[in-house]
Amino acid sequence: MICAVSGGVDSSVTACLVDRAIGKNLVCVFVDNGLLRKNEAQKVVALLNRQLSAPLVFVDAGQRFLDRLAGVTDPEEKRIRIGNLFIDVFEEVSQEKGPFEFLAQGTLYPDRIESTSTVGPSATIKSHHNVGGLPEKLNFHLVEPLGLLFKDEVRELGFALGLPREQVLRHPFPGPGLAVRVLGEITAKKLDILREADDIFIEGLKRWDLYDKVWQAGAILLPVRSVGVMGDARTYDYSVVLRAVTSTDGMTADWAKLDNAFLQEISNRIINSVTGVNRVAYDVSSKPPSTIEWE
Ligand code: XMP
Repeated sequence: MICAVSGGVDSSVTACLVDRAIGKNLVCVFVDNGLLRKNEAQKVVALLNRQLSAPLVFVDAGQRFLDRLAGVTDPEEKRIRIGNLFIDVFEEVSQEKGPFEFLAQGTLYPDRIESTSTVGPSATIKSHHNVGGLPEKLNFHLVEPLGLLFKDEVRELGFALGLPREQVLRHPFPGPGLAVRVLGEITAKKLDILREADDIFIEGLKRWDLYDKVWQAGAILLPVRSVGVMGDARTYDYSVVLRAVTSTDGMTADWAKLDNAFLQEISNRIINSVTGVNRVAYDVSSKPPSTIEWE
């Protein structure tokens, strides 16, 4: 069996579960798609290497994903391309290390409901990559042990497996990563700007003891520039939106009522230290009618 790991709670729990069940017949694969948070890939690989008995294959595919996304602005098109490239990479690893008959992945129940109308009653809202991007003739049998669980149940399972608190209580992060948080066309430069702003936000949430109080948080880079002033000079730079929500399952969500002093500190730090950003906004929309991610 081959298992895709992203470092998120869903795939970590999936990997640890199948590792305990069939570790000798398992190979885990971590794909660095270049769309991860700052220093994320190194941290995840170090942690999983300690936890898994199965080998962990690291694939640096950042440039391939950037190439595949060049010029693409449509959110669904981004997801489909990312999903398809993920599968291509898995198939390549599988040919090299395999053959493998099964692919394990951490799809949850809400992913299915929101991505297909055949499982749940709702229309397709977003094609989540681990459901919507799969090609028709996938060469693996899919194994989705968390397919009927909600996030809180996955976390319980994570604790039962003895995974560390920080890993189990990690915020959800979308499979297509920062690709759906850089609105419009994705470039390496925009990803770097977003990574810095996001890191300041997340680090601040932890320092202010707010991280565990929100379901999910992150920064979004808007494809519009606005005028600002820095010292004596006029600036014409990008805007960053901070998004933080409370929720129990991601299906509905409220915007988090974060302290004004906290927002002020984060805004100042981002504008003063992230080159290319001169404006920070806070998203005060709930789901529905908005969604958590902007794309
Ligand atoms: P939305 O934006 O639909 O997000 O309110 C609900 C939850 O799902 C995550 N999300 C994704 N996860 N692939 C994923 O694996 C995706 O394409 C994707 N899109 C959204 C989102 O971060 C939130 O936790």
